[in-house]
Amino acid sequence: MNILDFKERKKQGQKISMVTCYDFWSAQILAASDVDVLLVGDSSAMVMHGHSSTLPITIDTMALHTAAVARGAGKKFIVADLPFLSFRKSLNENVDAVLKLMQAGAHAVKLEGCEGNEDLIHHLVTSGVPVMGHLGLTPQSVNMLGGFKVQARDAGAAKLLFAQSKRLEQAGCFSLVLECVPTPVAEVVTKELSIPTIGIGAGAQCDGQVLVLQDMLGFNPGFAPKFLKKYAQGFEWMKSALNDFNQEVKSGQFPTAKESYE
Ligand code: KIV
Repeated sequence: MNILDFKERKKQGQKISMVTCYDFWSAQILAASDVDVLLVGDSSAMVMHGHSSTLPITIDTMALHTAAVARGAGKKFIVADLPFLSFRKSLNENVDAVLKLMQAGAHAVKLEGCEGNEDLIHHLVTSGVPVMGHLGLTPQSVNMLGGFKVQARDAGAAKLLFAQSKRLEQAGCFSLVLECVPTPVAEVVTKELSIPTIGIGAGAQCDGQVLVLQDMLGFNPGFAPKFLKKYAQGFEWMKSALNDFNQEVKSGQFPTAKESYE
């Protein structure tokens, strides 16, 4: 998968799959899978670092995660998130933030929102940096949104989201994440854009879907929003393996001669 494949997939009606990835270990597994795109999401702040929002993660931590992912990702296309406010400074500082992610091994960056971002997107795209947009529930704006809530529920908000999606396409975004928006809104946006939409909680009409790796594998048992499908029971599977190890150590069943040196 490369930048040219995104539009082509949309043209051909072939869906795009994207999964978050924050480390070398899981990047190797994703590299061996059929998943198309790896997203080094700023959700890492919550999933890997235990914060209650994405706001605390810094550009240096995002670059560290991106570099680890790049070492394990093989030929997969890697998108890295620009974290909270890292792209809302001077042009020089914004470009420095992007440079850190690209030099760490990202093939593209993702940034949230539209207002005030179009000039930067145009500058990046014309400088050789593919940009993925992100509308709907933009978690970096959680304090403005009053929580992690479905967006664009009324006609006015839906119209605004539609207009912003067109502006992001015009600015040069090569694809657009739609997070937690009603299915009909995502459907119209998807139909009217020439770039692919990648949904999370945005219904089946999007051109692709993204999920957080740990959520879809069931490593986050208390987290069960309506949009999430769990493809494994990772938490229970891992706990059970750990308890087997603990029990065998304590009972003297492990190690045996087979796991020992003569
Ligand atoms: O950071 C992230 O994981 C994301 C996805 C939810 C799209 O932005």
